[in-house]
Amino acid sequence: MEWTRAKRYQPYTAYSAATLLALQQQAADSPAQLRYHIRPRSGLLNDPNGFSYFNGEWNVFYQSFPFGATHGLKAWMRLTSPDLVHWYEHGLALQPDTKFDSHGAYSGSARAVGDRLFLMYTGNHRTATWQRQPYQLGAWLDQKGQVTKLAKPLIEPPAAVSEHFRDPQLLQVGSTYYALIGAQTASDQHGAIWLYQAPAAVGPWQAVGPVDLGEATLGYMVECPNLVEVDGTPVMIFCPQGLPKQVAAYQNIYPNMYVSGTAFDYQTAQLSQPSALNNLDAGFDVYASQAFNAPDGKAYLISWVGLPDLTYPTDQENWANCLSQVKELHFHAGHLYQQPVAAMKTLRQTEHSFAGPVTTIAATAGQQLELQLTIAADQTGTLYLAADDTLTHGLQLNFDTRTGQLEVDRGQTAQVPAPEYGTTRSVAVPAHQPLQLRIFLDHSLAEIFVNHGAEVVTLRYFNDQAWGQIAFAQPTQVTGKWWPLQL
Ligand code: FRU
Repeated sequence: MEWTRAKRYQPYTAYSAATLLALQQQAADSPAQLRYHIRPRSGLLNDPNGFSYFNGEWNVFYQSFPFGATHGLKAWMRLTSPDLVHWYEHGLALQPDTKFDSHGAYSGSARAVGDRLFLMYTGNHRTATWQRQPYQLGAWLDQKGQVTKLAKPLIEPPAAVSEHFRDPQLLQVGSTYYALIGAQTASDQHGAIWLYQAPAAVGPWQAVGPVDLGEATLGYMVECPNLVEVDGTPVMIFCPQGLPKQVAAYQNIYPNMYVSGTAFDYQTAQLSQPSALNNLDAGFDVYASQAFNAPDGKAYLISWVGLPDLTYPTDQENWANCLSQVKELHFHAGHLYQQPVAAMKTLRQTEHSFAGPVTTIAATAGQQLELQLTIAADQTGTLYLAADDTLTHGLQLNFDTRTGQLEVDRGQTAQVPAPEYGTTRSVAVPAHQPLQLRIFLDHSLAEIFVNHGAEVVTLRYFNDQAWGQIAFAQPTQVTGKWWPLQL
């Protein structure tokens, strides 16, 4: 079907229950479907929203267009978890059903306030002449999961920003609430992040001003800003679309970057001693990541694995994208580390170990597994994952532990997404050192944690599910283990 604008924005009531059920079945039956990651029940999933801890459970929502693999009318789908690994779906929590969010309940965040969860999000409204009007909106979610929207917007765009003003992150410092909002300047269409403050989550909200990250340009628009404290270090995570590649090198259509500093001043909206911009993920598909500080003080991150303006092979099956696993953040020696949460180990089934010069690790491991390995120093070679018998097709990890290079190549997979943005991604690793990898495969998603999370390479891949071989191109000095995973 052709997704005309009229079709993308028609009300959900235009679809029958049978249509929705058929789409859900089609997504569930897809060979590429994820089994232990958050995936769309049907249609398109994009940004994680409202990642929070409330009522004794982890909460996360995602941007959903339930009726096809297109960016149509968005709602928030809610999930909760006891352990950040097992997620239970509760249906659509925020629907685009008021004047202010008539063209989408867009991205935002959540915080427990008293015994309720406060949702702060962007209502995307379009006028009759299709002018976009963004409103920052509020809603309460009670302990029974009932949502009550506030009658009026919390924040209207200041004169200094264009129609691109969205994705509020709600923060609290002492008794003061703050919101960071992604923006584009009205005068010269540059990316910006605005800071607001209020005595209560419901307002009244007042602008503090644009955030100073020490960088002259943040491209033409910023989406999804998040400030999180990681082991005492403030880290700003955001998506600067159109960021000049001289500011920070990236290969994806749009980057998800972070900047760390020594302190964040909420009075002046300034990050002290900002670092350079860094890619949050070294892979192909991470965007719109959301991070927050949990009540235990730890910082957690979850990402959309998918990018705006790209198509993926499952579009043909009317569903698209997924969320990453949740990652615990740490900051050490000026560097951000991302690690799987402890409960990921509860998914492990039968353990298989290997050591010595190894060629084939497993001939039929499938594509739902965790693989941990340490490749000895001063070796070069290729590790194939989800590969066919002849190692002609599969994911390739080309490593050189003499010079310190790791290259992830998805060019030899069955259907390569967005080849125009390259089929390889590289990360530098210490030379003449062993290389430690912790790899998760979930049918069409690979998450590769390099050297205990010093880098993460996240990517979608689309292979024949029968290709389950894990092997080196030649005997390689390595030790490790792997486990099939089950929820
Ligand atoms: C980022 C984004 C956000 C917006 C949402 C709409 O992927 O464009 O800026 O709120 O998606 O679904």
